[in-house]
Amino acid sequence: MKNPLHNEIDLSAYWMPFTGNRAFKNEPRLMQSAKGLYYTTVDDRRIMDGMSGLWCCNAGHCHPHIVAAIRQAADELDYSPAFQMGHPEIFRLAERLASMMPDGMDAVFFTNSGSESVDTALKIALGYHHALGEGQRTRLVGRQRGYHGSGFGGTSVGGIGNNRIAAGPLLPGVLHLPETYDVQHQAFSRGQPAWGAHLADELERIIKSNHASTIAAVIVEPFAGSGGVLVPPVGYLERLREITKAHGILLIFDEVITAFGRLGWSSAAERLGVVPDIMCTAKGLTSGTVPMGAVLVREEIREAFMRGPPTAIEFFHGYTYSGHPLAAAAAHAALDVYENEGIFRHVRELEAKWEAGLHSLADKPHVIDVRNFGLAGAVELRPQDDAPTYRAMSVFREAFDRGLLVRTTADIVALAPPLVISEAEIEQMLGILGDVLNETA
Ligand SMILES: Cc1ncc(COP(=O)(O)O)c(C=O)c1O
Repeated sequence: MKNPLHNEIDLSAYWMPFTGNRAFKNEPRLMQSAKGLYYTTVDDRRIMDGMSGLWCCNAGHCHPHIVAAIRQAADELDYSPAFQMGHPEIFRLAERLASMMPDGMDAVFFTNSGSESVDTALKIALGYHHALGEGQRTRLVGRQRGYHGSGFGGTSVGGIGNNRIAAGPLLPGVLHLPETYDVQHQAFSRGQPAWGAHLADELERIIKSNHASTIAAVIVEPFAGSGGVLVPPVGYLERLREITKAHGILLIFDEVITAFGRLGWSSAAERLGVVPDIMCTAKGLTSGTVPMGAVLVREEIREAFMRGPPTAIEFFHGYTYSGHPLAAAAAHAALDVYENEGIFRHVRELEAKWEAGLHSLADKPHVIDVRNFGLAGAVELRPQDDAPTYRAMSVFREAFDRGLLVRTTADIVALAPPLVISEAEIEQMLGILGDVLNETA
């Protein structure tokens, strides 16, 4: 099939991820370049990025400091073996991450994506209990509507039916907490909903019917991003922390979206004052520029692996590209930008404005909920009776035609702009979305 935008490109070979391939290839959207808050398409249209790419380009696009760092690294050390070998910048990066994340999260394992961070975290949790002689702790607990990437581990603990339907039996012994969202009790909440902390008590029920000594870990996103910006009720994560701690179950926060400023702090754990045992990160770590993830682990968990002969490998796990030099350079540069430009503070200062702007869309046609947390938010639309998802998809298309990139899940329109956005640009972004919603049938 020929791309109508560019006659020389044949679109047929590329099997696109999480995309309606046939629909896309009939109506392609191809990006050519990006700068700051904007993409430019191959047909030279300027598109405001309302999604930080895919929740990742927190410092805005093609930031000169990050670009320069990647260029220099490519010129200096293209690759260094990840096993039995290292390079100085990756050790410096581990140290830097440990010092910016909550106290005690002192061991850092590098991966190349959020999915790999999740699968790594799950294996660390299982390995930890095994090392302590509690190898019977094999059950993992996820949550309905959770998204933890596309690996078999992440798909198993994830709670989105479409992602699991054709993936076979997945990991055995996985249980799911109920989702935290309830439109009747939470619609139009500003920030964290007041209702819903009690939903964490479902973990007590799971423990009763399976016994705590069989459960290795609970994994949740502090707020569920891909599931539709589902904000944790006040007290919910605190309750999960209490219950897991009381039963020797590890708590894993999947902070792939929430780490590195989305909530105005280095992590959701820091913002909320709830510290997990293991934290999964990726995306904003390099501001989306070079694939990289990092799993942060409490020191005593890592310590449990440090047994056996002093020359032995302690954890049989890793990736060829763990700690890649280009990714390390990109991460250092992204962290420099976050620090030097005061980006997390900027998010904290913008949050009230963002919240007010988003909630001003509450009266638009078909809107059944607006929710926000940090610099993320969602507008949920009443589905068309005979065509669920159609309404949000038409908002996506129309917004793109008017120069705004949003993202949809079911009939939810999500927004998560680069953290460098200004107040005026927020107004402009929400203005476009408001106009589109006004005309949505
Ligand atoms: C919370 C969470 N975990 C894991 C992932 C998977 O990350 P990746 O696509 O980098 O594998 C995502 C991606 O959106 C995510 O939002």
